[in-house]
Amino acid sequence: MRSDGLPCGDDVNGLVLLGRASYGGRSPEELADLACRVAHETGRWTRHAVIDGASPSVIDALDEARGAGLELVHVVPMSIPAERELHLWVRRSLDRWRTTSPETTLSVTVLEPMARHEATVVAIAAIVAGAERDTTAAHRRDDEPPNDPSWSAIPPHDHHLLVCRGPRCTLLGAAEVARAFADHAPDTTLTVSTGCLFPCNLGPVAVVHPGGTWYGGLDAAAATEIALGHLSDGTANRAHSVTPDGSRQQRPARLADDLPLDVRQP
Ligand code: FES
Repeated sequence: MRSDGLPCGDDVNGLVLLGRASYGGRSPEELADLACRVAHETGRWTRHAVIDGASPSVIDALDEARGAGLELVHVVPMSIPAERELHLWVRRSLDRWRTTSPETTLSVTVLEPMARHEATVVAIAAIVAGAERDTTAAHRRDDEPPNDPSWSAIPPHDHHLLVCRGPRCTLLGAAEVARAFADHAPDTTLTVSTGCLFPCNLGPVAVVHPGGTWYGGLDAAAATEIALGHLSDGTANRAHSVTPDGSRQQRPARLADDLPLDVRQP
C-alpha cells in the first residue's frame, strides 16, 4: 500500500521491478513508488526489489508473492546498462530459491532488461517530447545539491566498518546485518556500505579496520555482537571472523547450498 492509499493490485500474476540501490542503504523510494503506479495501471500485484545496497531483496519480494498466493511472477530488470553476468546469476538464484520450497506453485520468469525493449525507446521519445513542450522544465536547477563545506572533512572515527551490500550478500541477508550494525555500533564507527568484496560464498560479509578483520556468515545477532565487542572495545570476535580458506563459513538456512559462483561480480 502506498502512503497515499493507492492499492498495489490484486491478480494471480504479479510483477517485481528489480533495480539497483545506491550504497547509501536508503530505501529505494522512487522504485517503490513506480511499482505502485505500475500496479495501479495494470491492476496487478506489483512490488519492487533491489539487487544490492538496500532492501527488499528479490527473495523478500518472492516470499511475499508466495505468501499472497500468486501463481506467476515476472521479474522485470530495471537497471541500465544490463549486466549479463549479474542477470545470469539472478536467474540461477531464483531457480535455487524455488527449490527451497518445492511445494510452491509459484512460477517465476525473468524478462529481458529494459534497454532491450522497443517500448523503452518509445517511452524515452515521449518523455523528451513532453519536456520540450514544457519549456519551464528544460532548465530547472532545483535538484542540484548545495556545495556543502562539510563534505571536505573526514569524520573522526576509531574503526572503519565495510559492510558488503553486493548482490550475493544482499540475497543472503545483508540488509538485516546492516541494520544491526546501524543500531548497535558506537558513534566512533565510520560505516560504509560497499559493492561486492569478492568472497561471496562467505556472505554476508563485513570488514573492520584497522586490522583488516574479515567477518562472514553474518546475521543480525552476529553483527550486534561485533558492534558491542570489536567496534566498542577493539577486540576482534573470533567466533564470526573468517579466514582466507573460509573455514568458519556459515550458511543461512534458507539458502543452505552454495550459490552458483561461476560468474563474478561485475
Ligand atoms: S556480494 Fe558480498 S562478497 Fe560478493
